[in-house]
Amino acid sequence: MTEHWVFGYGSLIWKADFPFLDRRQATISGWERRFWQGSHDHRGTPEAPGRVLTLTPVPGAVCSGVVYKVTEDVFEHLDHREKNGYRRVTLDVDIDGGDRVLGTVYFADHDNPAFLGTAPLAEIAAQIERSNGPSGSNAEYLLEIASALRVLRTQDAHVFRLESLLKGRGC
Ligand code: SIN
Repeated sequence: MTEHWVFGYGSLIWKADFPFLDRRQATISGWERRFWQGSHDHRGTPEAPGRVLTLTPVPGAVCSGVVYKVTEDVFEHLDHREKNGYRRVTLDVDIDGGDRVLGTVYFADHDNPAFLGTAPLAEIAAQIERSNGPSGSNAEYLLEIASALRVLRTQDAHVFRLESLLKGRGC
């Protein structure tokens, strides 16, 4: 079966609920993570959406994550999991240690119906604190990605600032 690389920058880093043949730390260039995508199906509800990660273009930025080698059939699961506004795009992915590969990335653009966009970080943290959905609390999503980025030894001012705001609210 055909093999593909899939780059993860959010929950795909810490929640690999699919089979993979390889997993490597990697980066994409020109993008940063942001909690700008609404979540009606995993970390919130249609009435009270949570906030999850998408990417925004930032010239010169480098976004760290992990890249998985998967077989074609895994896309059925991933497309379902990432169905709330994400679409597949193909980007250059630099695997730590050398190789550049073409990778599939789940990207939620500003024109998808669930997109929430920017807001003051304190408001984003408050929304994350109060949101819950079928996959669990929105706070768990934020705390898990912050821990996973620490394991990858990655700096991410947006994620770590939100983590500290959330913890300051007692989470
Ligand atoms: C990703 O992790 O790469 C996509 C966004 C998410 O599922 O959190």
